[in-house]
Amino acid sequence: MMAFTKEFLFGGAIAANQCEGAYNEDGKGLSIQDLMPNGVRGPLTEEPEPHNLKLIGNDFYHRYKEDIALLAGMNVRVLRLSIAWSRIYPTGEEEQPNEKGIAFYNNVINTLIYYNITPMITLSHYELPLHIAKTYDGWRSRKVIDLFAKYAKTCFDYFGDRVKYWLTFNEVNVTLLSPLLSAGVLTDKSEISMAERYQIAHHQLVASALATKLAHECDAELKVGCMVAASAKYPMTCNPDDVIEALHQQQELDYFVHVHCKGEYPYYAQRLYKEYNVDLEITEEDLSLLRHTVDFISFSYYNSKTVAKDESKYDTSAGNILRGLRNPYVDYSEYDYPIDPQGLYYVLHYYYKQYGLPLFVAENGLGHKDKVEYDDQGKIIINDDYRISFTKAHLLQVERAIEDGVEVFGYASWGIIDLISAASAEVDKRYGFVYVDRQKDGSGTLNRYKKKSYDWYKQVIETNGKYLHE
Ligand code: BG6
Repeated sequence: MMAFTKEFLFGGAIAANQCEGAYNEDGKGLSIQDLMPNGVRGPLTEEPEPHNLKLIGNDFYHRYKEDIALLAGMNVRVLRLSIAWSRIYPTGEEEQPNEKGIAFYNNVINTLIYYNITPMITLSHYELPLHIAKTYDGWRSRKVIDLFAKYAKTCFDYFGDRVKYWLTFNEVNVTLLSPLLSAGVLTDKSEISMAERYQIAHHQLVASALATKLAHECDAELKVGCMVAASAKYPMTCNPDDVIEALHQQQELDYFVHVHCKGEYPYYAQRLYKEYNVDLEITEEDLSLLRHTVDFISFSYYNSKTVAKDESKYDTSAGNILRGLRNPYVDYSEYDYPIDPQGLYYVLHYYYKQYGLPLFVAENGLGHKDKVEYDDQGKIIINDDYRISFTKAHLLQVERAIEDGVEVFGYASWGIIDLISAASAEVDKRYGFVYVDRQKDGSGTLNRYKKKSYDWYKQVIETNGKYLHE
């Protein structure tokens, strides 16, 4: 039997703040991203400034028809995209949604459906409305739970008739690492203790469960998933100290998956709370809301992370958000990120074994600079063999996991059309199978060009993965 069936959702993923642009058009309010020209590395600007590449993004807002047609040309079956909360509720506090924002997403969804592409929507992908960030210091305040619930319900009411798959928070566990990016907390990270980060994450986890409840009330057929930044955690050595360190780091991530899947915090929360002096403010109502569990697990997987009890003894490598020790057994990308396809196989097994829920690979991809060349006719070509190798190796591991019995229903290649990166807000680090002519100084025609990987992915999908073995 083929591992990849014709129902397997091969596809791509994008996020509103990294591609839409049109940051102040048609009634959209500002989001934190409009003041983050340097990504997570800061500092924030007072006002949106022209060098912030996200203000224009890749201009998806105006070019979504062309982009979705390009995706259809690759036979893509799912597009994971996000909604910009501040396009629906400009400050987050209005009573009525912005009709033009609703109209935009209706158009995008209808275009996807026209081409038989399944939409999967992330409600919150690193872009809190700025007003909420400024007024409440983001998710530090419980008040944001109700604002999010209103926004989520609006999305289910307007789009739930056509959108079956929903994700609540992108990489929700990143709140522990970057309260600004993931939770819109404007107070400097250095002043937010780990104890407080757990409280902030708690607000998001309750909001996620509440949104899940609302989705199921809107239509019992809607499928809601959690989304975490996953990585296989490897001990640097077989020294039990390193093995336990890997276990503990794994649990910091699993904490988020567990509460989404089981409706309560895991037993090892006790250890985490003790270690970080967490005294969670948790109400009876929170406890009962958390019981609304997800239908599937989704995650991003870029690389594995190698850890040790005493990290000072080893070299480190880079990573967009998850950095680890240098692992001599894996390759490294030009950005010095580990390339470890088997880590994806490991993560798929790991979560399926624990929770038995269907899995969706919500992000995977290779950030790489691309070289534009010209063929004899002067046509632009981009030979991104490195990206083909990366995607192929990872898809083969998905196939292997499915053959073992793991239930994986889709794979979304991150940034399938070049967009602005999240951590460093740059455009040179490209992920797409479609090249966008936008350069780091902001210049460029914004025209789209198919890379070599475009035809390769098309064939992979057309053959239900058989082409991976060519
Ligand atoms: C994930 C995010 O962490 O990694 C995406 O969900 C992001 O938004 C992706 O773009 C790749 O990271 P970066 O920093 O290279 O864009």
